[in-house]
Amino acid sequence: MSPLLEVTGLRKSFPAARNLFGRVTERTVVSDDVNFTVGRGETLGIVGESGAGKSTIGRQVLRLIEPDAGTITFDGDDVRTMKGKDLLSFRRRAQMIFQDPFSSLDPHMTIRNTVGEPLTIHFGIKGAERDTHVVEMLERVGMRADQLDKYPREFSGGQLQRIAIARALTLDPDFIVCDEPVAALDVSIQAQVLNLLLDLQSERGLSYIFISHDLSLVRFLAHRVVVMYRGQVVETGTAEELFENPQHPYTKTLVSAVPDPRARRRSAAATALEA
Ligand SMILES: Nc1ncnc2c1ncn2[C@@H]1O[C@H](COP(=O)(O)OP(=O)(O)OP(=O)(O)O)[C@@H](O)[C@H]1O
Ligand SMILES: [Mg+2]
Repeated sequence: MSPLLEVTGLRKSFPAARNLFGRVTERTVVSDDVNFTVGRGETLGIVGESGAGKSTIGRQVLRLIEPDAGTITFDGDDVRTMKGKDLLSFRRRAQMIFQDPFSSLDPHMTIRNTVGEPLTIHFGIKGAERDTHVVEMLERVGMRADQLDKYPREFSGGQLQRIAIARALTLDPDFIVCDEPVAALDVSIQAQVLNLLLDLQSERGLSYIFISHDLSLVRFLAHRVVVMYRGQVVETGTAEELFENPQHPYTKTLVSAVPDPRARRRSAAATALEA
């Protein structure tokens, strides 16, 4: 079967300098000939240092920003030229979870509306029918149903990320880009949120792109990993392969930050996940 997502030759640059007349004279390339696939039910990890271009890849794949060049194919359809009904269907099937739920959720929206809004936008579902679905989603992510009329400021970071996950799940997607979804959370609750993502994947056959700078964490979540360095994919493999036999100097640096191969220092979340 063809992969759910296939990306080839993806390229994106941003203006870096302008002349006196506002004309762009220099551009910084932040995605440079990026190629990868994500299979159905698979997690592709994207690791790399800050500024490597990880989030920019996620945003291009979801068509939140436009690439300069390259192809993005989702379930056989060309994402870059989708219109109308096809684009709406893509917007339903492909979701994103951001690093910081405090800024990704609208502070003026109740939880009822935060989780229910996509149902109204896509299917015109409102009222009691919508509430039933919202409660189901909230309970699935471990939140209580009596919290519907609260606002984001009344929740902790971990609870907010669960709410963001409920919102992302509302439309029953096939694919979610998780952009450092636990990096802003207390270490003690990171593993809970990661386990929730893993459970949801096996229940629903979800495909994920999981973006992180932490190779030891990605190892527990991702079936395959791409390593990004300065806008390029420099290496692809299973996390195990990358640990055992890193090829690119940057991957070697990532791995050697984790000293002894047997007693590798892991993030607290990775250790908790392993337990
Ligand atoms: N809208 C923009 N305009 C100009 N430059 C941008 C824009 N968005 C991103 N960049 C630049 O593109 C590069 C890659 O950014 P990106 O956010 O994708 O990196 P990242 O790998 O996600 O980093 P981090 O780990 O810090 O989240 C950075 O140098 C960033 O400054
Ligand atoms: Mg980022």
